[in-house]
Amino acid sequence: MTILLKENIHWVGQRDWEVRDFHGTEYKTLKGTSYNSYLIREEKTVLIDTVDHRFSREFILNLASQIDLASIDYIVINHAEEDHAGALSELMARIPGTPIYCTANAIDSITGHHHQPLWNFIPVKTGDSLDIGNGKQLVFIETPMLHWPDSMMTYLSGDAVLFSNDAFGQHYCDEHLFNDEVDQQELMEQCLRYFANILTPFSPLVTAKINEVLGFNLPLSMIATAHGVVWRTDPAQIVGKYLEWADHYQENRITLFYDSMSNNTRMMADALAQGIHEADPSVAVKIFNVARHDKNEILTQVFRSKAILVGSSTMNNVMMPKIAGMLEEITGLRFRNKKAAAFGSYGWNGGAVDRIQTRLMDAGFTTSLSLKSKWRPDGSALEACRAHGRQLAREWALATPPGSSRVAAPAAAKPAAQTPVAPAGDVGPAMQCSVCQWVYQPELGEPLQGVAAGTPWSEVPDNFLCPECSLGKDVFDVLREKAA
Ligand code: FEO
Repeated sequence: MTILLKENIHWVGQRDWEVRDFHGTEYKTLKGTSYNSYLIREEKTVLIDTVDHRFSREFILNLASQIDLASIDYIVINHAEEDHAGALSELMARIPGTPIYCTANAIDSITGHHHQPLWNFIPVKTGDSLDIGNGKQLVFIETPMLHWPDSMMTYLSGDAVLFSNDAFGQHYCDEHLFNDEVDQQELMEQCLRYFANILTPFSPLVTAKINEVLGFNLPLSMIATAHGVVWRTDPAQIVGKYLEWADHYQENRITLFYDSMSNNTRMMADALAQGIHEADPSVAVKIFNVARHDKNEILTQVFRSKAILVGSSTMNNVMMPKIAGMLEEITGLRFRNKKAAAFGSYGWNGGAVDRIQTRLMDAGFTTSLSLKSKWRPDGSALEACRAHGRQLAREWALATPPGSSRVAAPAAAKPAAQTPVAPAGDVGPAMQCSVCQWVYQPELGEPLQGVAAGTPWSEVPDNFLCPECSLGKDVFDVLREKAA
């Protein structure tokens, strides 16, 4: 079964209605997904990506029903992850020697998964092209960390189709393939969920890469993703959304999430939300018990929020494990320009709230006063929660200046001064890669790239690359750390 994109391009992918877990169990695919593979037939026949390894046999059967597999001249693998390159072993067993065009990093990953180092890999870089006849070319564009180091996109000239792989995709399964054919609300919900949960940490790179691609001034008729729909009607709309979401996105929304041993912290959450609503009826307030709600939905709401409240009962003097897990995820997602505060009920001691507050600061949130309540909150304690909610609503109603520091302000309960790390000799602050966390220390420089010790960041050449993840200067932020 195939679906025609254009006269010369067929979708030959696989739908997966049933899948509910992705990346282990870290991403819940509530609407299923699809693994999109495309067959281009010009003078040369090209296969773009394959499908998840679990569907290898179906994929080969379907492909073989359409063409003689031996007629495939080139295979392009935009991303080595198993949901796209997984069927390579079955395919290459039938057409060994067929050239596989991918990035150097992809060769490493594909070889690591399929253990076939002798496959005919052709490494490509941004700007490399492949002539496929009839005056058309495939042009390759590396997109490292969107979302893996090996990722790339492939552009088909003449037809103006961008095969974008994971970028601009969504975990969404529908019998219809094109964006104008499906439920628009469902579609955009899944796009946002995908961005919030997978691409948020790489937002600076999303902006930089999209601007780089836009700089090529290429015409664009379709974006053919590797999951979900093909954008054929106004494909630029999803590009615009990505630029918007990557730019410190937030709405007038506050999200509370908590875990509660004896319902007491839940009572606090309820009263806090009431107070927020009393002081600022315009703000959307969303409340979740992490033990009962979909984690990815909570993270999506955090992404959409200007501020969050995180609550936990104290258990063994620490926070409850599901809250600790959420905070770890939130730290990894590297949200920016958001405010936060901790709350929770306790009995013998209130260690959870202090630990949450510290974790929120470490995660880059600007923290406000935290709130504890001993045992079950009574009427006056609940009124204190409502008053606290009102206070936070007023405080958070103030606009967040775009591009403001991601470093947390001191918490009222436990002030922790934050100062830029500036080594002696006034060579400016240390800089940290926002993607891999590698730190540039001016007093050490980076001799392997010819940057001498004592070179301030402002004098580091623009072509400097992070030694860990190979990304450019634009993903670095001033490193700040807690003063004693
Ligand atoms: Fe769809 Fe990164 O795999």
